[in-house]
Amino acid sequence: MSETLNDVRGEALGALGGAGDARALEAWRVAFLGRKGRLTSVLRGLGTLPVEERKQVGAAANALKEELEAAYEARVEEVRRAQLAATITQGRVDVTLPGRPQRRGGLHPVTQLMRQITDAFRSMGFSIVEGPEAELEYYNFDALRIPGDHPARDMWDTLWVDERVGGARPLLLRTHTSPAQIRYMERYKPPIRIAVPGKAYRYEATDTTHEWQMTQIEVLAVDEGLTMAHLKGTLLELFRRLFGPERRIRLVCVYFPFVEPGAQVLMDCWVCSGAGCHTCHRTGWIEMLGAGMVHPEILENMGIDSSRYTGFAAGMGVERLAMQMYGVEDIRWWYQNDLRLLGQLR
Ligand code: PHE
Repeated sequence: MSETLNDVRGEALGALGGAGDARALEAWRVAFLGRKGRLTSVLRGLGTLPVEERKQVGAAANALKEELEAAYEARVEEVRRAQLAATITQGRVDVTLPGRPQRRGGLHPVTQLMRQITDAFRSMGFSIVEGPEAELEYYNFDALRIPGDHPARDMWDTLWVDERVGGARPLLLRTHTSPAQIRYMERYKPPIRIAVPGKAYRYEATDTTHEWQMTQIEVLAVDEGLTMAHLKGTLLELFRRLFGPERRIRLVCVYFPFVEPGAQVLMDCWVCSGAGCHTCHRTGWIEMLGAGMVHPEILENMGIDSSRYTGFAAGMGVERLAMQMYGVEDIRWWYQNDLRLLGQLR
């Protein structure tokens, strides 16, 4: 019998050294110390022995049980420490590694520029208002003195919406923000000072400087005694805020049916200050917008006495300006949503 106990002891201690994790340890405990384990069966066999031997073997078996339990506890602790050490060395955080960048959203460059522009107008006392993008032909053209057979309609290639949608009155996607002038003057009388940001659409063959959708901002002021000088002063103030206090502007006579006189407004190039460079195509000047004094006939049609009131208006495209500001060479890139481009311009 003591032979057997020795066998059990040898086997048990040998196997315990090989039990390297919680699972193996538990299996070992069940096999040697469990209710159906090796040691228990030895103890059960005691009954068949003569009394003297029974005492002897019983004492030896109990001693072995205690020894094995102690060995087990010690091994459990050993394995626990080994595992902890492994976790600390293998899973440790390397604080010298670069972090993972967090992608942040941001405002589109055209939106940013538009906000700068509307902020400037707001601080000059203009209200920011909006008009519809799907517009009646009347507001987009006729009320602005561009009747159906007028050659000036060629200036704005039009995207028409299904004519039945507007009933008898044809609908289109507005080709400029100028119809908002009419809508505003229909409802409000002078003094008027508004700026109207929004999208406009043209039936264009797209290329590096033409897109079928663009963003414009319209400006309208109507009051007693307004002259070209007010128009010029307002625009100069805008451009100086955007491009620096030394900016100068130049007005060139241009025809728009809804203003008289009409002007194209140029600003000296902010890169070369007029010397001629890549940004201004070596001309020293940059075309900024169309403008003019509101045609008196339009004021009269809106019920505004043109012998008492005058007005000025201007309309500016934002994408081309943003292209020049950021050195972006193709207008179509603005809306391709390529974060390699947009992400740089925040
Ligand atoms: N609506 C004109 C355009 O889109 C610009 C403009 C606005 C011109 C106001 C004069 C006055 O080309």
